[in-house]
Amino acid sequence: MTTICSAPGKIYLFGEHAVVYGEPAIACAVELRTRVSVSRSSSILISSDLGVTGLDHEIHPYISSAIEKLGSPDVSVEISSDIPVGSGLGSSAAATVATLSAINIEFMLGHSKEELAGIAHEIEKIEQGAASPTDTFVSTFGGGVEIPTRKHLSLPDCGVVIGNTKKGASPKKTAKLVKQVAQLREEYPEVIDPIIKTIGSFARKGETLILKKDHISIGKLMNVNHGLLDAIGVSTLELSTLVYAARTAGAYGAKITGAGGGGCMVAITDLQEEVSEAIEKAGGQAIITRFTSNGVMRE
Ligand code: MEV
Repeated sequence: MTTICSAPGKIYLFGEHAVVYGEPAIACAVELRTRVSVSRSSSILISSDLGVTGLDHEIHPYISSAIEKLGSPDVSVEISSDIPVGSGLGSSAAATVATLSAINIEFMLGHSKEELAGIAHEIEKIEQGAASPTDTFVSTFGGGVEIPTRKHLSLPDCGVVIGNTKKGASPKKTAKLVKQVAQLREEYPEVIDPIIKTIGSFARKGETLILKKDHISIGKLMNVNHGLLDAIGVSTLELSTLVYAARTAGAYGAKITGAGGGGCMVAITDLQEEVSEAIEKAGGQAIITRFTSNGVMRE
């Protein structure tokens, strides 16, 4: 028998970096998915774009850990993904969550979604050294989520375009940027603390604006959020170039998503083709997608 499960990536609408200091953030699942096909086999085999291996923590760290955490059953696991790897969109969380879920179903292990989300977070911590539970939680349950409360929110009812600078974001880079912001805050607490609090205020306002379908105001606050992320030093010329290109093409708003320093920006818009074209012209890789309430699911 074969079980196929898929799990989504995510973007931050508001609040990255400020969330490290206890401020709220809003993360939303997007309809870019990692699909994992699991079949019973005579030995452990993992196939992806990265190659075909057995348990291998160098080439397939997250999948290898997922198999081990569920008792190392003899499985053949095949992974394919729409989510660019290492670009701040939660690709490793989606691969981990989809693998855990497919093995759980195929071998009738009986874990709940909550348990699988917890195991996926443990795996991210082991493989990355440190990880917030955001990516694994959003990938498991889908939809919009307020962090740290994990309150489920509705999703903005408009299109999404992601712009990838193709300059690597990675857990190591995230750690470096988080440290860099911490140093700036230590040096100038009276300047940086109010910026962090203001970023937190966007997530507090966000829920009401989403319910009102007020995309213009959500976009405006995303733009201010981007300005403040730039102010604390996590934007790059490439990221801001894509952000401005998206806004000029008519997006409601555009900002970095994730840690910054490379990786991706996100725009919300009802002009997806125009915004996508502008991002490509400005040197980015554009990905047209939409918000999704579907977390991990069987296909
Ligand atoms: C990275 O995706 C988001 C940060 O806020 C770090 C974190 O919350 O773990 C920069």
